[in-house]
Amino acid sequence: MKILVTGGAGFIGSTYVHQVLDQHADDAIVTLDALTYAGNPANLLDLSDHPRHTFVRGDISDASLIDDLVRECDAIVNFAAETHVDRSLLEPEAFLRTNVHGVYVLLDAARRYGRRIVQVSTDEVYGDVPAGIFSTEEDQLAPRSPYAAAKAGGELFCHSFFVSYGVDVVVTRGANTIGPRQYPEKIVPLFVTNALQGLPLPVYGDGLQVRDWLYAGDHAAAIDLVLRHGKPGEAYNIGADNERPNIELVRALLAHLGKPESLITHVPDRPGHDRRYALNWTKIRTELGWEPARTFAQTLNETIDWYMSHPEWWQAIRQPDSEFETYYQRQYAWRLASATDENGAVATK
Ligand code: DAU
Repeated sequence: MKILVTGGAGFIGSTYVHQVLDQHADDAIVTLDALTYAGNPANLLDLSDHPRHTFVRGDISDASLIDDLVRECDAIVNFAAETHVDRSLLEPEAFLRTNVHGVYVLLDAARRYGRRIVQVSTDEVYGDVPAGIFSTEEDQLAPRSPYAAAKAGGELFCHSFFVSYGVDVVVTRGANTIGPRQYPEKIVPLFVTNALQGLPLPVYGDGLQVRDWLYAGDHAAAIDLVLRHGKPGEAYNIGADNERPNIELVRALLAHLGKPESLITHVPDRPGHDRRYALNWTKIRTELGWEPARTFAQTLNETIDWYMSHPEWWQAIRQPDSEFETYYQRQYAWRLASATDENGAVATK
């Protein structure tokens, strides 16, 4: 099978590309990536001479390019997206463009050529989930951030193309994912690389928000099973049963790094911050036989160890005057200036 992997130079996308090339000797991959700030050629550097891999730079909203690529491939797996909630609060329009219109362009080509398309979505489409509840695939979508709304919009287009035109579309809804090569705007790579530099770790609000933590390699394996065996028109939750309040995750991270908890700095909260996401992922376990291969400790520690052993990867991103630095200042400078310590006292960092 020849698979078009869109967004394949990003974090989960590049994990997926490597995994498929390693595990499916008969498959070839065409990676399409616009190489905006989080798509990183370094993530695919080792594949530059791979006989079954081709890289194309471009945008999923470019209908003529997508037409050419979809025509020559057997299936599409769409990782291309704007993914960071905080950025969606600063500049929502890019999210609408890529996560809704871009998905539409892919669907339209999939329809023309009769291709299967896997849309990689998120548990955030369910919105804030009360303690004790686990979202199932039948639950109503109730997104609350511009990011989650755009992902839900993309999903609704997928569903409409399945119902209206019979396009063979399958959706995955994954939990919080960590692992190698994640752009250091997300909590784990940001906090690991901050801690390694002795910088404060900006915990939003009380830090009692709960997320479920999934390893990128496990997430990629689930997406691949859905591509090969998922039922047309269905959605599949991908969770790990690794629910942790953020503050507990951060303490575990510092303990593994051997860094002091005094780096923890409580800063003003993310507006509209969802308190909890939690998935019921019985469907993918029972129907497709998937389970994550790692415990919470393995998921977190393998991730941390990768950043520790690949300083050149993240230091290239975290340069003075870089895109990252501009974003970091915009997002955190004022927050850190009004930070408090664990006891609510005004911090002096
Ligand atoms: O749940 C799946 C989603 O997980 C994906 O769809 C998103 O693309 C991905 O970004 C992630 O969303 P989150 O908003 O949960 O991830 P993030 O790493 O930004 O934040 C995780 C938690 O940590 C969240 O409760 C906010 C908190 N946080 C995050 C940052 C960046 C902090 O307390 N401080 C921070 O500086």
